Amino acid sequence: MSNQTSSPGPDPKTYDVIILGASGFTGKYVLREALKFLTTPNSPLKTLALAGRSPERLSEALKWASGPGSPPKIPLLTADTTEPSSLSRLAAQAKIILNCVGPFRLYGEPVVSACVDSGCDYIDICGEPEFMERMEALYHEKAVEKGSLVISACGFDSVPAEIGLLFHSRKWVGPSVPNRVEAYLSLESDKKIVGNFGTYESAVLGVANAHKLLELRKTRPKPARPAIPGPSPPKGSIIEHQKQLGLWALKLPSADSTVVRRTLTTLTQNPHGLPGVNETPKNIKNRETFWSSIKPAHFGVKLGSKSLLGLFPAIVLGIFIGLLSKIALGRRLLLKFPSFFSLGWFRKNGPSEAEVASATFKMWFVGHGFSDADVASSRGNKKPDTEIVTRVMGPEVGYLATPIILIQCALIVLADRDSLPKGGVLTPGIVFGPTDLQERLQANGISFDFVSKNAL
Ligand SMILES: NC(=O)c1ccc[n+]([C@@H]2O[C@H](COP(=O)([O-])OP(=O)(O)OC[C@H]3O[C@@H](n4cnc5c(N)ncnc54)[C@H](OP(=O)(O)O)[C@@H]3O)[C@@H](O)[C@H]2O)c1
Repeated sequence: MSNQTSSPGPDPKTYDVIILGASGFTGKYVLREALKFLTTPNSPLKTLALAGRSPERLSEALKWASGPGSPPKIPLLTADTTEPSSLSRLAAQAKIILNCVGPFRLYGEPVVSACVDSGCDYIDICGEPEFMERMEALYHEKAVEKGSLVISACGFDSVPAEIGLLFHSRKWVGPSVPNRVEAYLSLESDKKIVGNFGTYESAVLGVANAHKLLELRKTRPKPARPAIPGPSPPKGSIIEHQKQLGLWALKLPSADSTVVRRTLTTLTQNPHGLPGVNETPKNIKNRETFWSSIKPAHFGVKLGSKSLLGLFPAIVLGIFIGLLSKIALGRRLLLKFPSFFSLGWFRKNGPSEAEVASATFKMWFVGHGFSDADVASSRGNKKPDTEIVTRVMGPEVGYLATPIILIQCALIVLADRDSLPKGGVLTPGIVFGPTDLQERLQANGISFDFVSKNAL
């Protein structure tokens, strides 16, 4: 591995954070976000390095991310996921590796493996359920033993859903209990909403390999189901008109519901959450109080739009990916012409900076439940009688919200490692739920609001 080091950091052998894939479309926005905290007084991020296949591309990304000022002196390390030794060298030098190299199903496992082997913490922005569950199956036990935290989905997938649901759940106070919570995601912009090819490729390969996730789940022990008062919610239609929010909504097969389910499974097995590696009595009390206030619910995600027509590109894209991704020629066509098959939603060279800057998201959590848990468990009247609505809002999802979330997760790990589990392949909800992640996100432009509570 060649180190193109403009000037060594305070400890050239140890970096607080290495961003792997900093030259990628998302990586360079992650880098821009990280730089804000590298120069902040009292920040736990003191030393940063960038890693990737090409020092030239990393250097370009650093120039872009630090513009219009001149780039700070940050070590650029060469690493390739096809060369395990280069990853081991990274893991040996870092407290945390932030992995922005995707699709994760193609490139992620060697990075997880290197981190687990060396006991380094690993955080990524993956939104691919099969990768996450496979890593859990293969590496969880070793990660616990080695003291390596492996936390995927620390981006828009799936932190707004995870922390948003925990925030929502805590609004069901006293004897009231939620039964189901539906998250309605609305993407807004006065310009075109566009995603980069990396996310599109990850989605195409995810659908193409959906059977592998089902096969994997068959080989694993049945997950513990949380006790949710009331009946299982009906399947519901694929398209819904949510009159209260003024949205047409389409069921979204996103990673969010699978990640939330894994968090609730871990919570069912560990009702007080997971102990920290070296917790203070205050940490223990805080964690136990936090998890005792969480009431699990059935959870699903829908994509919302003000008009039925606004859902058209998502429907077309879903049909194309569903039909074509299973065959090699279909996949080749999908990956060759992303703009055509997504009606302009995804581009090979990603959105412009202006398109990124003008986009925002709102995620509405509409919860239906019971004013009294006893009503839910009594025979007869089992219809929910209470509705609570909360909302998470923030900037553009892929390249603004995702870097904010990833960097805040990393800062918590740096600042509060003793209060977090020793190790394991874990979800963001179970690790960061009792921390100040929600407050940190709020301070950085992602808000959590209570909207309403109504009797039904
Ligand atoms: N959670 C979320 O909400 C969220 C949001 C945004 C993105 N993502 C995910 O992030 C991933 C990246 O997306 P993107 O749009 O940024 O993709 P991208 O622009 O193609 O970037 C990919 C990065 O991976 C690097 N890379 C590729 N192969 C490598 C290898 N063998 N060894 C080392 N580095 C390698 C590339 O480096 P080179 O410069 O050397 O090519 C580049 O830096 C995707 O999986 C996407 O789904 C998730």
